[in-house]
Amino acid sequence: MSKIACIGTGTVGAAWAVVFARAGHEVALYDALLDEVAERTLPRAAKALGLLEAFAPSDESIETILQRLRPAVSIAEAVAGAAYVQESVREDLSVKQGVFSEIAAAAPIAAILASSTSAIPGSNFLGHIPAPERALVVHPVNPPAYIPLVELCGTQWTSPETMAAARAFMSEIGMRPIIVKKEIEGFILNRLQFTLVAEAMHLVGEGYVSAEDLDAVLTDGLALRWASIGPFEVAHLNAPDGLQGFVDRLGPMMKRMGAAARTDYDWTPEQVAQLHAALSVRVPVDEIADRQAWRDQRILATRRLKREHP
Ligand SMILES: NC(=O)c1ccc[n+]([C@@H]2O[C@H](COP(=O)([O-])OP(=O)(O)OC[C@H]3O[C@@H](n4cnc5c(N)ncnc54)[C@H](O)[C@@H]3O)[C@@H](O)[C@H]2O)c1
Repeated sequence: MSKIACIGTGTVGAAWAVVFARAGHEVALYDALLDEVAERTLPRAAKALGLLEAFAPSDESIETILQRLRPAVSIAEAVAGAAYVQESVREDLSVKQGVFSEIAAAAPIAAILASSTSAIPGSNFLGHIPAPERALVVHPVNPPAYIPLVELCGTQWTSPETMAAARAFMSEIGMRPIIVKKEIEGFILNRLQFTLVAEAMHLVGEGYVSAEDLDAVLTDGLALRWASIGPFEVAHLNAPDGLQGFVDRLGPMMKRMGAAARTDYDWTPEQVAQLHAALSVRVPVDEIADRQAWRDQRILATRRLKREHP
């Protein structure tokens, strides 16, 4: 089994470690907070493995899988001999530039170097390293231990071989890679997500709907379809004559609403405070960890349902 290195082992890095170890790889873990791995990453990984066991039982015990997670004391130690490196340090351009200088100096020249960045195009921090053709963005959805989608986005230097190898590797370990063909801030998922959030802020902020009812529009409405079919197929199935008929009839209205959406809506600090207070009644801040555990169970239950009803 090849060695993988996870650099930055907070929320996302810890979940990546679970994905790699469960797929049979040795995983070296390095975090700038040296206590992070022992105090948070390993307990988090053990918890995730327990949850995943109920979703897709492994041939191996949780203890065996956990033994593949090995703390390292430096980036150089973590990436030595690695076939694949996944960086998940905080979302800060200069931090990522510095971390990739260190990774690239110590990793084997044949290793694939991947960043979990949520939004920063890789050309901003992957071009200055030796052999930049081996580096790309592999953006997961939080938490990647439970959600399979990953966005692969190369830079102007990334080779087609690196793209193909990263895509094959992601499929092999049970992820669902998609290719972002041109660099753009936020890639695809966060552009869609934050556009929706911006219009949601506008609709709630201007008093069209309560925050609670807006959430229900997704959880008891749109998302029930979207868990199985994307927005293009929704349109295709919503007209007897398919997407063409849908667009012929509703296209002008769709364009009008799209143009009128207030994606530039300027939320005030007061509106954010109000929304935070309302959410904190539903989920008090000190109960967020419990609610995250509930969310993760629901994500896996949804995936189980999809698996059972292909
Ligand atoms: N949380 C999400 O929803 C999410 C989803 C997808 C992608 N991402 C991306 O993943 C990356 C990590 O996000 P996160 O939510 O796990 O953040 P986090 O704050 O939970 O973890 C970041 C970790 O990086 C460590 N770190 C900081 N500087 C470092 C350095 N120089 N060397 C080594 N470790 C360092 C920190 O100690 C921390 O443990 C970010 O780029 C983020 O945008 C986050």
